[in-house]
Amino acid sequence: MVKIELCQNLPLQHLLNKEAFGPNFHWGVAIAAAQNEGAWNTDGRGPSIWDQFARRQGKIKGSAKPFESVDFYHRYKDDLLLVKALGFSVFRFSVSWSRILPEGIGRVNKDGIAFYNRVIDECLHLGLIPYVTLYHWDLPQALQQDGGWASHQMLKWFTRFTQVCTDAFGDRVKHWIILNEPMGFTSLGYMLGKHAPGKTGLQQFFPAVHNALLCQAEGGRLVRASVSGAKIGTSFSCSEVVPYTNREEDVQAAKRIDLLLNRLFIEPLLGRGYPQEPGFTLMDKMHIHNKAWKYTERMQFNMDFIGLQNYFATTIRYNPIIPYIQASEVKAAVRKVPHTAMGWEINPDSFYRMLRRFWRYGGVKEIMVTESGAAFPDQLQAGRIADQDRIHYFQQYLHALLRAKKDGVNISGYLVWTLTDNFEWSEGYKARFGLVHVDVKTQLRTIKDSGYWFRDFLQA
Ligand code: NOJ
Repeated sequence: MVKIELCQNLPLQHLLNKEAFGPNFHWGVAIAAAQNEGAWNTDGRGPSIWDQFARRQGKIKGSAKPFESVDFYHRYKDDLLLVKALGFSVFRFSVSWSRILPEGIGRVNKDGIAFYNRVIDECLHLGLIPYVTLYHWDLPQALQQDGGWASHQMLKWFTRFTQVCTDAFGDRVKHWIILNEPMGFTSLGYMLGKHAPGKTGLQQFFPAVHNALLCQAEGGRLVRASVSGAKIGTSFSCSEVVPYTNREEDVQAAKRIDLLLNRLFIEPLLGRGYPQEPGFTLMDKMHIHNKAWKYTERMQFNMDFIGLQNYFATTIRYNPIIPYIQASEVKAAVRKVPHTAMGWEINPDSFYRMLRRFWRYGGVKEIMVTESGAAFPDQLQAGRIADQDRIHYFQQYLHALLRAKKDGVNISGYLVWTLTDNFEWSEGYKARFGLVHVDVKTQLRTIKDSGYWFRDFLQA
């Protein structure tokens, strides 16, 4: 029998049922090594840039550290049982580079490999399909000391890491995601200084973008050559960018931000080279610095799927004070539109439009939503975590997804961000995205109402 979920405060068209997405649709959850594993120096793991960054004063809210995190390293069996119990069939996780190559290159840490073998085997045992993300933001600190993503050696390092992973796991793992949100880690980490390794300015941002573009395509080629039957993708963040007014200067400012948020990584991948907007001096400089015209072919790779992650829509106005970009955001709270605990605008229609827009590129074969979710302050009510806001969010976003799918966008799956509350980068442990609540002191897991909602939806 098909169970229909009806949320009281939604109009009728929000009726959702799983069957509508088709029998082959992949439903899953996603996590990431640096956010979930903890065990930062256990069994020979080397430090990552996040271990280092977290030691710096004032970088992470509440001076939170990722060292223990939510202890997925020791609790992976319980957490995978939760994935299963909630009715999902896909488990996406990332490999901590410094757990398997403590110095980033050179010596392989057998205990690190053994850990991921245990996770993969447990997934298969439970009937979960493992999706492995190669890079989800936790570069080995040893490589950062030699320049990290800004170093011209990056491609060589990444190739070696990828080879170690495909050799070790490629017999059982067939779904690979090369990079997670390259715009996120290059801009926040190498331009704005908000994420590890905390670099600011353009000097390191330009080469970081370039190296990420090369690793994205080269990583794809390497997995293709090494893993038989592999399905290969890479994951992009995307956000609809809306000009604050229809004044020309706001419209142009929105186009510049749109280029950075939505075009910079996919267009080179599709073989179109670096994107450009007339008068965007930052991109002029990037083209020249990176000798963009020489690399069109090397940045191209025919991915089997594109992972999309849409967390917010953004409204942009012209701001002459901001160097090169000359644009700034008009926050959702200022505009008094619905937003999450992160201050991110909730706008399912913009999610629908972004799915259609990436599909319209033409060269995209398949889209998978490799992360989707929201942080809200969870209300504890008589032992229950009543997160009605999150349920409402999923209902609206799934409805938008279904609309896009019905319109002909080839969408193969939806992965919830995230299974358990975890280390939310510079937000520490305050921002909670999980379907399962974690008490970070006791590590006690409690399924939230949104987790039960998903279970009912999936098991209908
Ligand atoms: C996308 C990132 O991939 C993930 O690591 C992060 O936690 C979520 N956004 C939420 O901010």
